[in-house]
Amino acid sequence: MNELEESFVVSRVNTGIPILDKALPSGIPRNNMVMIVGEGGTGKSVFMLQLLRERLKQDEPCIFMCFDDAPLAIEQNFASFGWNLKRYIDEGLFRFIDCFSFRMSPDKTKLPSYITYIENPRDLYQLTQIFVSTMDGMNMHGKGAVFIDSLTELLSITEPATAIETIKTWRAEAAKERLVTVFATFHFGIKPFDDLEQILEYVVDGLIDLRYDPILMHQGILVKQFRIRKMKGAKHETNWFTFTVNEEGIKPLAIKFERDKASL
Ligand SMILES: Nc1ncnc2c1ncn2[C@@H]1O[C@H](COP(=O)(O)OP(=O)(O)O)[C@@H](O)[C@H]1O
Ligand SMILES: [Mg+2]
Repeated sequence: MNELEESFVVSRVNTGIPILDKALPSGIPRNNMVMIVGEGGTGKSVFMLQLLRERLKQDEPCIFMCFDDAPLAIEQNFASFGWNLKRYIDEGLFRFIDCFSFRMSPDKTKLPSYITYIENPRDLYQLTQIFVSTMDGMNMHGKGAVFIDSLTELLSITEPATAIETIKTWRAEAAKERLVTVFATFHFGIKPFDDLEQILEYVVDGLIDLRYDPILMHQGILVKQFRIRKMKGAKHETNWFTFTVNEEGIKPLAIKFERDKASL
C-alpha cells in the first residue's frame, strides 16, 4: 500500500465479542454508524452493553445516550454481567446522556456528574448541542464510541422527519467528523415505524440483524441469532450466527439436530 492509499484507510476496531468478531474479521471502521435491529428481547441492549464494555476495556471514552431505560437500571444491568462501570466513570471515560428521566423529574441537586440530565429530549437542537459538546469535553477524536438505545424511542417522542435529520447530524458529527463510532438500536416490528426503519437502513453504514431462529420458533423454542446485513468498509460474513446470553454476556450456542427434533 502506498502513502496515499494509507491515508484513505480508516482504522478498524475489533468488537471484542468473540462470536461477533468471527462475523467481522477485520473489525468495524471507526467512522461507521451501526444500527442493531431486532424484536424485543433478542438481545439489542445486551449487545450495546458488551460493545460498550469492550471499548471501555481499551480505555476509549464512551457515551451512552439512554431513551429506553434509566441510567441506574442500565448500570445494574451492566453489573449483572460482573462488569464494573465505576472505574471508567472515575477515570472520566464514561458518561450518560439521560433522555429517559424527564418522565420522572428527578431531584437535579442529587444527580452525579457523569449523568447529563436532559430536561426536554424533544428539543433536538439542544440535544445535538449537548451530544457534540459532551464528545468534545471527553476529547473524543479518532477514538471512542457513542451508544444510543433506542432510536425507536427517539422517533416516538419527536416528530419523525426532524428526528431522522437529527440522526443524520449525529452520524456526521460523531462518525464522519470525529471518527467516533456510533451504535444505535432499533426495535423491529412496530408498524408505524416500518417506513422510518427503511430510511434509517440506508442512512447508517452498518446493520446487525437480531432475530429468533425461525424454525425453532415454530417448535416454541426461542433461540437468538445475529447476522451482519451491511458493513461499509469492512469484509463480513452474512450468515446467521446462533448465540445465547448468560451471566458473562454473549456466547456462541451450538444446536444439535436429531432427525426432526432440535436440542440445545
Ligand atoms: N444479566 C443478564 N444475565 C443473563 N441474561 C440476560 C441478562 N440481561 C439480559 N439477558 C437476556 O438477554 C435477553 C435480551 O435482553 P435485551 O438485550 O434487553 O433485549 P432487547 O434490547 O433486544 O429488547 C433477555 O431476555 C435475557 O434473556
Ligand atoms: Mg433494549
